[in-house]
Amino acid sequence: MFLQDSGSPLMEQLSFFHDHALLILVIITVLVGQLLFSLFFNKYTHRFLLEGQTIEMIWTILPAVTLIFIALPSLRLIYILDEINNPILSIKSIGHQWYWSYEYSDFKNIEFDSYMIPINELKSFNFRLLDVDNRMVIPFESQIRLLVTSTDVIHSWTIPALGVKIDATPGRLNQVSFSTNRSGLFFGQCSEICGANHSFMPIVIESISSKYFINWISKMIEI
Ligand code: CUA
Repeated sequence: MFLQDSGSPLMEQLSFFHDHALLILVIITVLVGQLLFSLFFNKYTHRFLLEGQTIEMIWTILPAVTLIFIALPSLRLIYILDEINNPILSIKSIGHQWYWSYEYSDFKNIEFDSYMIPINELKSFNFRLLDVDNRMVIPFESQIRLLVTSTDVIHSWTIPALGVKIDATPGRLNQVSFSTNRSGLFFGQCSEICGANHSFMPIVIESISSKYFINWISKMIEI
């Protein structure tokens, strides 16, 4: 019925569209259900009636109009999702079998790998099958440009709460733009079947204030 709470303006819009489409679906289901149910009480009047121009006009045009009501907001969303609003930060994410690696090329080309924490090494504060050793750190309320690619097979960089889902394809560079509207952790998983450990290459975003982000990036440059 419902999606996870949104962590970005994009996902909020996607949730609104989901609710809109679901509402139309419920209306159609109730209408058709009522029609089907009424057939049980059919009195077989008009059994020699073979055509009706008026009703055919109505049930041709009505579904067409209904589809337009879904298609136009959907089209609007596609364009909003594709917009890049002056990103303050560009990050590269590279898919591997089976882990992600990140590059912050705006700052002396910082790069690191991000592996899932194995179950036998879990600490009490870790999240089972979802946590990683090195998280992707970003400042909140800022536009991020993410460039995604892969070195071996197709992976998919997916974070449901942020409304981001983009394939990491070998030989291609894909681009997404997003922002977070609060601090916190955002979890995601690879969503292209990429081999034996497909389920074990999660993505974690650590969204922090820009002040702490600068602290973090300075530490990373020192290393
Ligand atoms: Cu990488 Cu599935």
